[in-house]
Amino acid sequence: MTILVTGGMGYVGSHTILELLTQGYEVVAIDNCSNSKPAVLDRVKKLSGKDISFYKTDLRDKKGLDEVFRTHKIDCVMHFAALKAVGESVEKPLFYYEHNLNSTLALCNAMEKYGVTKFIFSSSASVYRSDNLMPLTEESVAGDCINPYAWTKFMCEQILKDAAAVNSDWSVAVLRYFNVIGAHESGDIGEDPQGVPNNLMPYIAQVAVGRREYLSVYGDDYDTPDGTCIRDYIHVSDVAAGHVAAIDYLAKNKGVNMFNLGTGKGTSVLEFVEAFEKASGITINKKIAPRRPGDLPIGYASVDKAKRELNWTAVKTVEDAAADTWHWQSKNPQGYEA
Ligand code: WQD
Repeated sequence: MTILVTGGMGYVGSHTILELLTQGYEVVAIDNCSNSKPAVLDRVKKLSGKDISFYKTDLRDKKGLDEVFRTHKIDCVMHFAALKAVGESVEKPLFYYEHNLNSTLALCNAMEKYGVTKFIFSSSASVYRSDNLMPLTEESVAGDCINPYAWTKFMCEQILKDAAAVNSDWSVAVLRYFNVIGAHESGDIGEDPQGVPNNLMPYIAQVAVGRREYLSVYGDDYDTPDGTCIRDYIHVSDVAAGHVAAIDYLAKNKGVNMFNLGTGKGTSVLEFVEAFEKASGITINKKIAPRRPGDLPIGYASVDKAKRELNWTAVKTVEDAAADTWHWQSKNPQGYEA
């Protein structure tokens, strides 16, 4: 079975390719490498002992995409490729809509043209409206997004629903990720953000290796037990396994179905720092800073639907993820570049 992975050189894409190869799937990967390092390809090949077909092309390049679909008989598409920096999306909304919507449209058009019917989409918990009760279920209200990045994910979900409505043989799984963290247990692949990291785990990891002076804890006056925000952090290897579980699900289910990929457990920023310190043996310099605009106090998933229908559940803890991130970051202090 051949899986087309877009954004295959990225953080979640590369970990999922490794999982697919380990499970015996053939992989064709596409990436424009605008936000990733091609070095990841050699690492994945070495870890798996297997080869993949890789195309350095942009999904919006119709000729390039056609060549991929003409050359390979694709059984299922996993669409990871997207711009994902929330702050940047607020500054450059059109750039974000242009990239994320047009790449998804191009893929859907190619699927129609070449008769591919299975699609797994990387969506985000940020599509949920901010006034839902916790935990967030797939029935919680989505839309009214608070930034263009989240809107692009919400709009792509709508594109998939409309496309599947007229392609009755399509099977689509929309996977709404919560906060993805961690690295492969080998420490050879991991998250390598360009510039200043936006997210908590890579920021802490860079403080730990001395690339950043201290962590700003954005707010300690929220209505939570220790005053800091609570999130549902899920290990990237669990997310990768969730994608593989979705392949089996699509073999038996048509239409568009949404699934939360989370752990169901909330962790505060201070608990998170403590877990990292324990795993690494390093004390993280930190300062309490003002709240970050747009942050919700609390967000975590209900994972019942994924457990029931995908037969998948996250098995790794925040402590496991902290240990794996530290393994990756200490082995690769400058990321893939070094
Ligand atoms: C987690 C917590 C911060 C950095 C974002 C996107 C979401 C998804 C994942 C997908 C919050 C606090 C963070 C720091 C801190 N994107 N924090 N100091 O905001 O939950 O979700 O990433 O691609 O769409 O919105 O994740 O990791 O940025 O923050 O105190 O330097 O850590 O305030 O409470 P977030 P995050």
